[in-house]
Amino acid sequence: MCGIVAYTGFRRAQPLLIEGIKRLEYRGYDSAGIATLNGGKLTIHKSAGRISALETAIAGQTLHGTCGIAHTRWATHGAPTDVNAHPHTDTAGRIAVVHNGIIENYRALHTFLSQRGLSFESDTDTEVLAKLIGFLYKGDLEKAVRAALREARGTYGIAVICADEPDRVVAARKGSPLIIGIGDGEFIVASDGAAIVQHTTQVIYLSDGEMATITPDGFHTTTLDDVPVTKEVDELEFSLEEIELGGHSHFMIKEIMEQPEALANCMRGRIDMSEDRVVLGGLAKYVRDLVRAKRIIISACGTAWHAGLVGEYLLEDLAHVPTEVEYASEFRYRNPIIEDGTVVIVISQSGETIDTLAALREARDKGALTLGLVNVVGSTIARETDAGVYLHVGPEIGVASTKAYLGQVTVLTLLALMLGRRRHLSQPQLHEYLLALSKIPDQIRDTLNQSDDIRRVAETYREAENWLFLGRGYNYPTALEGALKLKEISYVHAEGLPAAEIKHGPIALISDGMPVVLIATQGSQYEKVISNIQEVKSRGGHIIAVATEGDRQIREIANEVFFVPRTVEPLSPLLSIIPLQLLAYHAAVLRGLDVDKPRNLAKSVTVE
Ligand code: G6P
Repeated sequence: MCGIVAYTGFRRAQPLLIEGIKRLEYRGYDSAGIATLNGGKLTIHKSAGRISALETAIAGQTLHGTCGIAHTRWATHGAPTDVNAHPHTDTAGRIAVVHNGIIENYRALHTFLSQRGLSFESDTDTEVLAKLIGFLYKGDLEKAVRAALREARGTYGIAVICADEPDRVVAARKGSPLIIGIGDGEFIVASDGAAIVQHTTQVIYLSDGEMATITPDGFHTTTLDDVPVTKEVDELEFSLEEIELGGHSHFMIKEIMEQPEALANCMRGRIDMSEDRVVLGGLAKYVRDLVRAKRIIISACGTAWHAGLVGEYLLEDLAHVPTEVEYASEFRYRNPIIEDGTVVIVISQSGETIDTLAALREARDKGALTLGLVNVVGSTIARETDAGVYLHVGPEIGVASTKAYLGQVTVLTLLALMLGRRRHLSQPQLHEYLLALSKIPDQIRDTLNQSDDIRRVAETYREAENWLFLGRGYNYPTALEGALKLKEISYVHAEGLPAAEIKHGPIALISDGMPVVLIATQGSQYEKVISNIQEVKSRGGHIIAVATEGDRQIREIANEVFFVPRTVEPLSPLLSIIPLQLLAYHAAVLRGLDVDKPRNLAKSVTVE
């Protein structure tokens, strides 16, 4: 969702800011804008659409000044127009604000300011905040921002500049991340490390309720109530290379293809084959509580929820802990029951999804032990959980999650095995699973080799507007995730279901030639899946099967087959999703769609 970049230092701010917001494009946005300060003058450009439209709007004009702010907006209040794009200004046009989040009481503030004669141009909550800061400004930007935020309810990450205070950026956060990159005589503030890493890896993370005032000479941090806060300098844990395309046409295919290495990194140091042990250092302090857990609740959104569903199967099957999976958006408002011995695990690639964060806070307030399975190091969820495990799959830029999903499922597998061994799995059983797990990266590599065949199948069904994805047991979540991938980036209607459920309604949808994907890998429910295939086939559906290498029977009954190597059943989701990721990717490319920036979607959903 929305992205913020701000700069103060000795270099010209414009190119830095534009390049910075381009690094945040992947998060999803529909308009962009920039403001720079030069000799007491504020210059602003805003444009609906892509950043390239903003660049066209400022083409030929050099925006001077070594201090400025920029923004990519994902519309919430008001359509994605030039006027609604950020930055927004105060009435005098001296103060400019970029804002992520939502000011919930903006109507009341709007009325308050209107009654005092102020007028508004846009439909945004952010303009109300900018006007309020200007209304309260008495020659000290930091004070005015603090005073305004005292009146504002909701969530925000903001960066503010003022023509009367050149070189100064005031930043504040509540619920929307902000990171300050520390350079030599320069600072770059951003809502995401991707906009910073090119310049420095030394950063501080603002916490909720904190503000920073930054000039080229240094910065100071306080709480919103003006109590000084000392911040630790952290290191950004990824490189520029990792967030660049490296010869691939899209981030999504890059991330699909790098899954063998990503998974090897995720497992590194966590499997001790010599002693048949799983080592999850981040959970060390809480292993006893976990072993004694009476119930595990997993809460997440989107793809992470699908990973959580695999986690339910794994934790119940391998560790015998009663487990439920909850959509974070439901969990947070449902007054969930948290009893003694309940452990809540939240899963999030970004570590910033607002509903997942709220679910975590709900669980924590009710006394649960909270664990986070998160990819982005230093993100809010990672910092607010009692303990956790980083996925370590590297930055994920493609909006449609691929390698993070595999990382999530892998960490859940490790967790289930770690608990399983302490509860009831024997050493030889654990050994077998660990051996199988250590082979997974190479088996993924083999599966990826079928990319061209999968592309051909995507071509065959390129006109199909309705797809079904069916699976049972461990691969029911794979069906859901396969369908989600296709709809996210191809805008094709795709529904994922437990295979047996089709008889209770969806089978009515099946017509001649409709593509139906069936995950039919070898396992306890194989024969039942074969029966489901026959049911679909006899109604004219075209079967695209995901099956285990060497399965001859399936070749005879399916129209198309994608093969995955043989593994133990609980690990099958790690392989069977790979062809479905590739299928979605090729389908979107064949339709000429913007794979990495699908319409209406955001990488990190920071509003409810
Ligand atoms: C958005 C993304 C999805 C992601 C979901 C949860 O909807 O587009 O790909 O699965 O948010 O994100 P998280 O960062 O919490 O895993």
